[in-house]
Amino acid sequence: MAEEFMVVKDLYKSFKDLKAVNGVSFSIYKGEIFGLLGPNGAGKTTTIRMLSTVLEADKGEIIIGGHSVKKDAEAVRSIIGVCPQDLALYEDLSALDNMVFFGRMAGMEGKEAKAQAMENLKLMGLEGRAKGKVGKFSGGMKRRINLAIALMGSPQLLFLDEPTVGIDPQSRNHIFENIQGLQKKGLTILYTTHYMEEADRLCNRIAIMDGGQIIALDTSYNLKKQIGSPEKVTLEDVFLKLTGRSLRD
Ligand SMILES: Nc1ncnc2c1ncn2[C@@H]1O[C@H](COP(=O)(O)OP(=O)(O)OP(=O)(O)O)[C@@H](O)[C@H]1O
Ligand SMILES: [Mg+2]
Repeated sequence: MAEEFMVVKDLYKSFKDLKAVNGVSFSIYKGEIFGLLGPNGAGKTTTIRMLSTVLEADKGEIIIGGHSVKKDAEAVRSIIGVCPQDLALYEDLSALDNMVFFGRMAGMEGKEAKAQAMENLKLMGLEGRAKGKVGKFSGGMKRRINLAIALMGSPQLLFLDEPTVGIDPQSRNHIFENIQGLQKKGLTILYTTHYMEEADRLCNRIAIMDGGQIIALDTSYNLKKQIGSPEKVTLEDVFLKLTGRSLRD
C-alpha cells in the first residue's frame, strides 16, 4: 500500500456567497504526480492556496508529511514548495538574485541560498543566465525561474499551479522534463494544467474538479475506461463528458 504524503478531508472555502471549494477530500501518495484538472473557476487555485498555508480554510483538515496545516503551518511550510499560477518575480533583479531573495525569505543564510540557487538554476538548464535580468527573459524562461524558486529549501512536496501556461511547446516540453526529473528525485507533486495531453502523460492519478468539488478521481486509464475504450478515448473526452465543458479558455 502506497504511503499517503498528504491527506485532505472535507475542505471548504467560500467568498461571500460563492462556494469556491465545496467539500473536497483526497490523498496524494508519496512520490506521485497528482493532477488537479478543472475548468476556469473550478476552485483549483483556492484549494492549492489552502493546502500551501496561504489561505485559511473555512472547514476541513489538511495533513502534509504528518503535520497539520492548521496546527503547525510552520512545519508544513518547511517541506513544501509553491509555484504560483501568477508569476512572482522581480523583473529588475537577475535570476540569481531573485532566487537568493526567496531563499533568504525562507530563512537561509546568504551563502547557502546562493549555492542552492545555482543548483536549481542548473536543474532548469538556466545556469548560463544566472546574471541576466529576469525582465529580459522569455515567458518560458520566467516560468522555469518560477519553478526553480519553488525548489528553494529542498521541498518534499511541490504545488505547481499551471506551470506551463502561455508558453511555447518547446518550453513546455522543457518544464515537462524538469517535472519528470523532480519525480525521479523522489518529490511528490500536485500539478494543475489546462493541457490534457500533459496531464495524461505526466500524472499518476488525476482528479477532475468542477464547481468546487472533485467529480472524478482515478488513473487516466481508468477515467477513460469509464466512458469507452481507453485506447480510443482521450482525457479531453472524459473531461467534456463529466463537466460538459472544454478545459481551454
Ligand atoms: N480572493 C477571492 N475573492 C473572491 N472570489 C475569489 C477569490 N479567489 C477566488 N475566487 C473565486 O473562487 C472561484 C474559484 O477560483 P479559483 O481561482 O480557485 O479557480 P481555478 O480552478 O484556479 O481557475 P483557473 O483555471 O481560472 O485558474 C472563482 O469563481 C473565483 O472567482
Ligand atoms: Mg487557478
